Amino acid sequence: MGGLAANGSLCAARGWVGRLDCQANADSAFGGASRYSPARMKWSELRSRFFGNLFTILSGLLGVFQVLIGHWIVVVFAGREGPGWVSGLLLAAALVAANMLAMPNLRRAARAGGWPRRISRGYMALGITSLVTGLVIAIAWLGFLPLAGLLTVLGVSGDTAFEFFRLMSSVVVFTLVAMFAWGFTGGQRLVEETRIPVDLPGLPDSLSGLRIAHISDLHIGNGLEDARLDALVERVNAMEADLIALTGDIFDFDPRHVEDGARRLGALRARLGVFAVLGNHDHYTGREYIAESLGRHAPGIQLLRGDMVRVPGETPFYLAGVDDPGADWTARGVVLQELEDLGNALPADGPVVLLIHRPEAFPQAQRLGFPLVLAGHTHGGQLALPGSGHLNLARIVTRYHRGLYRENGSTLYVNRGIGVAGPAIRFNCPREIATIELR
Ligand SMILES: [Fe+2]
Repeated sequence: MGGLAANGSLCAARGWVGRLDCQANADSAFGGASRYSPARMKWSELRSRFFGNLFTILSGLLGVFQVLIGHWIVVVFAGREGPGWVSGLLLAAALVAANMLAMPNLRRAARAGGWPRRISRGYMALGITSLVTGLVIAIAWLGFLPLAGLLTVLGVSGDTAFEFFRLMSSVVVFTLVAMFAWGFTGGQRLVEETRIPVDLPGLPDSLSGLRIAHISDLHIGNGLEDARLDALVERVNAMEADLIALTGDIFDFDPRHVEDGARRLGALRARLGVFAVLGNHDHYTGREYIAESLGRHAPGIQLLRGDMVRVPGETPFYLAGVDDPGADWTARGVVLQELEDLGNALPADGPVVLLIHRPEAFPQAQRLGFPLVLAGHTHGGQLALPGSGHLNLARIVTRYHRGLYRENGSTLYVNRGIGVAGPAIRFNCPREIATIELR
């Protein structure tokens, strides 16, 4: 009980119920089984701290990996003599410190615009490529060392084993670099229009075939502005969907883009209306400012902030939506009080489609009986291994990473987003404009 009481004050202090450790309170309050355990709470805190300091941790790691990559190029690939352990370690320490000092300034520069922004973006692009390449080289070394021992026992010479490593690691490193080069160029420019038929049990015949254009995570201010934003609006309008749903992260973080972005979004048109919710990045940008600007420049967009509205038409059909809690973008087991309130007032005469930003609220939405939930937030990971795309970066933070999920009679669609967060890279994860077709 003491743990739960402490847990309750944590939730209250944060102003929202949105973490695994807070889930215990919500479950108890709503009569569900408590999922609280000290171990889970500790793990949740660790995750939170890790992601809260993500940039610092990655910038430190980057220094180590830069040395590892340098060593691989000089010693393994070029076959030259390395500088030795001591020099290597000193260089790594210097690069760790330099990257950690540079990171806050580069993040500030990214917001400044102009050439500081271009330098920052270049550094970030090189940084993410180096992190993944360095990690793969580290794994390759870890795999090679025991293999080399085994080959030596089998009578294979050290030189032959090293040559084998040089060849194999070169194939992997150059493939990786080619993947990143594509991801930063052609890969991130691809836009896929997807068609998602969704069976809703008990859907009235008159609503069968209704089409919702679903876009998410525009991140206006991070590459999708001006003519590109106009082109997106035009493209979505041309789809002539019955209604348009926008599931958050409309803006990236820079309030200077809000007025102009709202004005351009005001051109979105659909027969039954345009509906939107706010995401975590809209919080970073300023959610009240965004709401006020959309109201002024895009009055056709109905922002759902804990609201449920009946869609115009003879057959009862509703849309509901809530603000994203903003904090802790990696939180699992999100439970939102506003969503609870909406779920307790579900109308009996027609289906309700719920718009939320982060898909982690899906279990709560299922429990409350929402038949269809549209979400974004994950960007499908932006980087996915070749294949189905299900092995992607977003899996680190949620199991609802991209696509369609059906659980306990509810359906969730997680849109891959039309914008990008951070570096403009996408690999095996094109930008998406989805058409949800009700059946
Ligand atoms: Fe986003």
